[in-house]
Amino acid sequence: MKAAIINQFGGPEVFKIQDIDKPNIQPDQVLIKVKTVSINPIDWKQRNGNHKLILGSPFPIVLGYDVCGEVIEVGSEISRFKPGDLVYGVLDNKYGGALAEYAVGHENCFDIKPENIDHNEAAAFPMVALTALQALKYKSDLKTGQTVLINGASGGVGHLAVQLAKLLGAKVIAVASSKSEQFINQFNPDTFIDYTKQDILDLDRKVDIFFDVIGNQKFPKIKHLLTSQGIYLNLNYIDTMKKMPLYKLHQMFTKKKAKAILMKNTEEDLQVITKWIKEEKLKVSIDKTFSLEQIREAHEYAQQGHNKGKNIVVIN
Ligand SMILES: NC(=O)c1ccc[n+]([C@@H]2O[C@H](COP(=O)([O-])OP(=O)(O)OC[C@H]3O[C@@H](n4cnc5c(N)ncnc54)[C@H](OP(=O)(O)O)[C@@H]3O)[C@@H](O)[C@H]2O)c1
Repeated sequence: MKAAIINQFGGPEVFKIQDIDKPNIQPDQVLIKVKTVSINPIDWKQRNGNHKLILGSPFPIVLGYDVCGEVIEVGSEISRFKPGDLVYGVLDNKYGGALAEYAVGHENCFDIKPENIDHNEAAAFPMVALTALQALKYKSDLKTGQTVLINGASGGVGHLAVQLAKLLGAKVIAVASSKSEQFINQFNPDTFIDYTKQDILDLDRKVDIFFDVIGNQKFPKIKHLLTSQGIYLNLNYIDTMKKMPLYKLHQMFTKKKAKAILMKNTEEDLQVITKWIKEEKLKVSIDKTFSLEQIREAHEYAQQGHNKGKNIVVIN
């Protein structure tokens, strides 16, 4: 099968389009024919080798987690899906494996693609929607009337987080540059802050949740912005876990908390997302669309970190 592979870590130039063996499935896995893949920052971070100490270097590596495709084959233990089903989800292999004609994942990675979105949107949704849901609902129990600040509101996770927070009844302060203001306003945040003009550390009000999507703020520095039981959430999981001993000291005499977020593949959460998509409560924005052959350009663009919403790679 045709795949975008890397045989070494490095810049976008390490990508090669090559024929490799089609993956085999285990009894608890599903084989899909990939239609579309969306790019997440984890993809270009892994291409750079950022996770090689944890995940090793099993070259040739096929990157990519977010996927939409057609079920081709199911393992003997699979009951939820059958060949012909159109599914979407986040693959759970070491380095993903989506940037290829075929890919595999366990059953809990997938749900049936909602009919009211196309293949591009289906690949764009899963990782960012699951991350926003798990951060705002399960890690912080955001409630009606509370205020959440979303730092990095116009990117993949951010624009879903704004919508989810509004859906949960929260007041939203969206932080991005002025270039993203018009884009963000379609999701109705209550306040927009341009980080190039205003230092968010000087904000004149308290927030219940400080959702640091971009991960460029530190708990000790933003603590004064939190309400008495406020929560700081950071998506830069490894870095935040390293700082946690220090953050614990800062939490000793206060009920304010710092938490690191790591998205988990749970079928129940993806089903919640599916339901909200079907009810048209959530939408995903596509910035640019690339072919598999344009994978280098796709990563070059994505890693600049100024996309509005998501970037897509169309495979089949
Ligand atoms: N832990 C997990 O499970 C998990 C899951 C998903 C993502 N993540 C991480 O979360 C981060 C965000 O992911 P993403 O998909 O949302 O990324 P993204 O789509 O690349 O984010 C791009 C957005 O960030 C905004 N931005 C750039 N610099 C900013 C700054 N200094 N302040 C505020 N906003 C800024 C940009 O807005 P402007 O163009 O207006 O500057 C742009 O719209 C990444 O580091 C990713 O690895 C972690």
